[in-house]
Amino acid sequence: MDQSPIPLNEYNTFRQYLEDACGIVLGENKHYLVTSRLKRVTEEFSFPSLSDMMKTLVTGNNPRLREKVIDAMTTNETMWFRDVYPFEILRNNLLPELAEKKAPIRIWSAASSTGQEAYSISMTVSEFQQQNPGKLTSSVEIVGTDISQTVVNQAQQGAYDELSVVRGLSPERRDKFFTHKDDKWIINPDIKLRTRFTELNLLNSYNLLGKFDIIFCRNVLIYFSSEMKKDILERMAKILKPGGTLILGGSESPTGYTREFMMVRYPDGVVYRLKESIPGV
Ligand SMILES: C[S@@+](CC[C@H](N)C(=O)[O-])C[C@H]1O[C@@H](n2cnc3c(N)ncnc32)[C@H](O)[C@@H]1O
Repeated sequence: MDQSPIPLNEYNTFRQYLEDACGIVLGENKHYLVTSRLKRVTEEFSFPSLSDMMKTLVTGNNPRLREKVIDAMTTNETMWFRDVYPFEILRNNLLPELAEKKAPIRIWSAASSTGQEAYSISMTVSEFQQQNPGKLTSSVEIVGTDISQTVVNQAQQGAYDELSVVRGLSPERRDKFFTHKDDKWIINPDIKLRTRFTELNLLNSYNLLGKFDIIFCRNVLIYFSSEMKKDILERMAKILKPGGTLILGGSESPTGYTREFMMVRYPDGVVYRLKESIPGV
């Protein structure tokens, strides 16, 4: 197959296609990245060339091709207890506050990739319950969503190889929350039971998800345009319960995109709380 990078006009068509499909904005000079990532897809679908694949892609009548292309272009990089501080804030500040309300607690891991974030939340809930017996009596539901059905399937399986299980997970937590079987580390049923995973493109409606106390939306907004960030943050504000909390990635912030949130500083780090709405304003 021809290995030369895609011509500029096709590259620009593809950039627009990708932004419309999943919000990801490619820089102007990522020809080589796109060429190398799409080479595999082109071969898998037996297209004679990248150009032929692009033509079929933009006509929009091959959903399987569209899915494979989005899979190839998205970064699924994740790890257990990523950056540590969100889970410390959850344990030390958010769960104690929510436990007082004695109402069912709902947490959304938006862009959950292969499930490490959602399961780290669930492990944190279990640790909180063990450290504070009888304090958290209400149910906790964790909903993980991602645009990629492939990573959603992996998250649902909850089975990890040696290489991914060590990334961010202490041996103590691994032995406590996983069972080793046939070269895989399987997440224990009590941790899994609180979670459910489903495919969702963040560009689409959130109406079917219901309301949440906490939204983890980490390390995905960085790929989107300013307009897309604003739109997503404002729609997330609408499905947070009053006083709900948004937890973003270390390099992400709602500042400049929406005024729905205020920054809250805890000893472990920063999160964003939905502002109280003032009647009539
Ligand atoms: C870098 S991972 C972050 C995973 C996790 N939140 C973390 O911080 O470790 C980004 C994830 O966002 C997903 N993603 C990209 N665009 C998306 C979109 N438009 N809607 C939903 N998920 C998307 C990717 O499939 C990928 O799994």
